[in-house]
Amino acid sequence: MKTSPPVVNAPPGFPTKLNDLVAQIEKAIDAHLPPAAARPARLHQAMRHSMQAGGKRLRPVLLLAAARLRGAALHDPLPAAAAIECVHTYSLIHDDLPCMDDDDLRRGRPTCHRAFDEATALLAGDALLTHAFVLLSSHYPAEPALARTLVRELASAASSTRLIGGQMEDLLAEKHPLAPAAAPPGRPAETQPPAPDAARLEFIHLNKTAAMIEAALVMGGHCGGLFASDEIDTLRDLGRDLGLAFQIVDDILDATADTATLGKTAGKDARAGKATFVTLHGLETARRLAAARTQSALDTLRRLPGDTIFLRALVEHLLSRKN
Ligand code: IPE
Ligand code: IPE
Ligand code: MG
Ligand code: MG
Ligand code: MG
Repeated sequence: MKTSPPVVNAPPGFPTKLNDLVAQIEKAIDAHLPPAAARPARLHQAMRHSMQAGGKRLRPVLLLAAARLRGAALHDPLPAAAAIECVHTYSLIHDDLPCMDDDDLRRGRPTCHRAFDEATALLAGDALLTHAFVLLSSHYPAEPALARTLVRELASAASSTRLIGGQMEDLLAEKHPLAPAAAPPGRPAETQPPAPDAARLEFIHLNKTAAMIEAALVMGGHCGGLFASDEIDTLRDLGRDLGLAFQIVDDILDATADTATLGKTAGKDARAGKATFVTLHGLETARRLAAARTQSALDTLRRLPGDTIFLRALVEHLLSRKN
């Protein structure tokens, strides 16, 4: 994750700590992916093309930070951190396919289907999703209860009612608006522009994005040995607010940033007729809503045990991020 420009009011050690966590994650990803030369090499190269392209690594960073709230984690969080990044990257590869958002650029590189081909990208996504569960089910042999919890948490977040369900409704909102605006007198409903309502937009964001951010924090909490259910519930609440703030900022950046800074094509949401906070509420209100969700996440953070300084700085950093 890029750490400049510096975070307003961030504690002095924040950029160094963030860079250090990202470096640990990059190393773990390299170690935990099948080698590029493993047969079939084309598939493993495609997986690495998308995984090792310098994403922000937000979900694994959150996982490590939650795992280390009370100092050194009870159980090694790095295999779980690599696993959640595998699922996230699979979701991006599929999100970029021509049948979905049809994007050419991701993480500053040609998208997987552009660098390889559609079938290879589809299979690379499938393989990353599957590989995540190989990692979780094989790296915690002495802790079967932990492994089961991690598998359940990640599988639930990626499921048809969460990540995939959110992606489905995102596409439905684009292609088959379900809630057209009420027609003013004398004007037939079918001539009205589609108006995705706020509740539906929240469903999309909560599931396509917040589910995985929530899972990252909760999985980290379990690795760190936060056994009290209210602590896990607090991590879930934090993930929900942070996930919503994160996707609102993603929508704002799509409308305001440039392609080179984003490392993905800017301005796509409006062109595709996506349901976003910017298209629904306008830029100014979207910014206010992102700030309000961030504040709510910061309030929730106060309920967590241990040292929350890094998480607090990270939550603030994400509101002012540039990509
Ligand atoms: C992109 O996620 C998809 C969304 C949920 C908005 P990120 O913005 O975390 O993408 P990377 O991992 O940094 O590439
Ligand atoms: C996608 O949301 C979220 C995923 C689950 C992949 P977007 O479609 O807004 O993500 P970007 O903008 O392409 O990264
Ligand atoms: Mg999408
Ligand atoms: Mg997209
Ligand atoms: Mg987007």
